[in-house]
Amino acid sequence: MLPENLQITVFPTKSLIKYQESIIHQIETMERKTFPKNEIMTIKEEIAKKTNTLLIAYYVSTENEKQNFENKSNKEKKKEISEAKNDLSKKHKVIKILGYLIYSHISLSISPVTRILKLCIHPLSRRNGLGRMLLECTIKKTSVPQKCRAELYVDTERLNAIKLYQKVGFKIKNKVKDYYETGRDAWLMELS
Ligand SMILES: CC(C)(COP(=O)(O)OP(=O)(O)OC[C@H]1O[C@@H](n2cnc3c(N)ncnc32)[C@H](O)[C@@H]1OP(=O)(O)O)[C@@H](O)C(=O)NCCC(=O)NCCS
Repeated sequence: MLPENLQITVFPTKSLIKYQESIIHQIETMERKTFPKNEIMTIKEEIAKKTNTLLIAYYVSTENEKQNFENKSNKEKKKEISEAKNDLSKKHKVIKILGYLIYSHISLSISPVTRILKLCIHPLSRRNGLGRMLLECTIKKTSVPQKCRAELYVDTERLNAIKLYQKVGFKIKNKVKDYYETGRDAWLMELS
């Protein structure tokens, strides 16, 4: 089940900028747990590229300040107690990332193209339509297929991802041998 307050947005945005470190840390952790070494992206570098966009699916959770307090050193604890006569039940917001998608959009060429570079859903949130939502959001934002075609490369072994892309309308164009590394081929898929 997805949380009621699930949101999908482009990141970075003003309202989420103060959570940047945590958001990037969560995404990079998912990258490391999901993909082989040669496919792991450095998220800060990817979002710094002008043509790239990162979409995140997230919800806001409130965690008890008390948990944080317990993890602090004695000195820090003393300081907090004396400073605030702190209300230890005070809540603070935490952003929880459930999935992300990175795409590049090149609109100025004769043949505008949106390329899906990465899609990943947290293992506990899969099969709830989130992958589809992120793809459909990308397609809508970049006016595929009206003004632009979309394409992606997917490992021929990633059958779940291939099914998802087909469900959204992508068609297999051709096989690219050894695309990822020797012995690991990709399908080039297109939506136009
Ligand atoms: C592939 C992935 C992105 C799918 O995300 P998801 O949110 O679970 O997918 P959705 O719930 O939107 O699924 C939509 C459709 O895709 C197909 N699909 C997705 N996961 C599937 C699975 N495990 N088995 C069979 N079909 C699957 C189904 O047709 C599904 O529709 P249905 O649930 O109505 O049957 C997710 O499993 C994932 O992050 N995998 C690891 C990383 C990866 O492979 N990324 C893609 C390559 S870069």
